[in-house]
Amino acid sequence: MIYREIQNTPVPALGFGTFKLRDDTCRRQVLQALEVGYRHIDTARIYDNEKQVGSALAETDVAREEFFLTSKIWVEELEPANVHRSCETSLRLLGTDYLDLYLIHWPSDRYPLDATLEAMSELREQGKIRHLGVSNFPPSYFERACGLAPVFTNQVEYHPLLGQDRLLELARAHNVLFTAYSPLAQGAVLKEPVLNEIGAKHGKNAAQVAIHWLLQQDGVAAIPRTGSEENLRGNFDVFDFELDADDNEQIARLPKNVRTINPAFAPDWEDDDT
Ligand SMILES: NC(=O)c1ccc[n+]([C@@H]2O[C@H](COP(=O)([O-])OP(=O)(O)OC[C@H]3O[C@@H](n4cnc5c(N)ncnc54)[C@H](OP(=O)(O)O)[C@@H]3O)[C@@H](O)[C@H]2O)c1
Repeated sequence: MIYREIQNTPVPALGFGTFKLRDDTCRRQVLQALEVGYRHIDTARIYDNEKQVGSALAETDVAREEFFLTSKIWVEELEPANVHRSCETSLRLLGTDYLDLYLIHWPSDRYPLDATLEAMSELREQGKIRHLGVSNFPPSYFERACGLAPVFTNQVEYHPLLGQDRLLELARAHNVLFTAYSPLAQGAVLKEPVLNEIGAKHGKNAAQVAIHWLLQQDGVAAIPRTGSEENLRGNFDVFDFELDADDNEQIARLPKNVRTINPAFAPDWEDDDT
């Protein structure tokens, strides 16, 4: 496993995502992920699966301090009192005393950012969260957040079919973890011939190529999700090969405009007054 060192905290660069995993599939996959060696789990209040993640955490032999656990506040809950209440709910459902990382799931102009971050800082002082961060923050929002609080990560969509040069540059400048969500473009990378060809050359599949490509980049973490045990093992088996210059050049030439998560309330992704 590769670790990123952010704010004196080592974070496993490969995590397990749980978006869309429900009921017993969620419990089983998180339990299995911990057994296979994943030590970083990503959930969110809105995924409505924290109870099932919590069941897996209660069942596993892996000690609480051995894994890194992230949850997120939904975009309607950014008012300070709701930040506190939402965190209490996540902690109760996950069956843990603390989150390693708590994120603002989406930016919103309906709630003052400074008040939300202040509430999150209070949670930190109370020991309920170890770190705070943001998700889906374009450059302007991100810079503003970094000026207000010790942001630990910006979690955004990133994979071989979507360019994120500016946000990655800003994250590195602030020594903030760049967490790549939808690292498989929700499955689209599996259909990309170039990635399949590169994979065949190394005895790997396109998902493994995409995950390795992300993890070879400084300061980047990736959190692929799967409901299959076979894919869960495969997606972890990404540390025993290297991409060569030709592979990297071919990946660099792929179209970089495939955005799979873009709800109506998404910010202007290009918003950059930095
Ligand atoms: N902050 C945010 O707003 C945000 C937004 C989206 C996601 N996320 C986080 O990022 C995580 C990952 O993103 P995601 O869930 O959107 O999608 P993803 O990880 O990019 O892709 C998941 C899809 O890829 C398939 N897949 C996974 N491994 C595979 C393999 N080895 N071979 C073939 N197919 C494979 C899965 O199908 P199978 O189940 O059949 O394997 C599933 O359909 C989420 O679970 C969540 O934790 C955060």
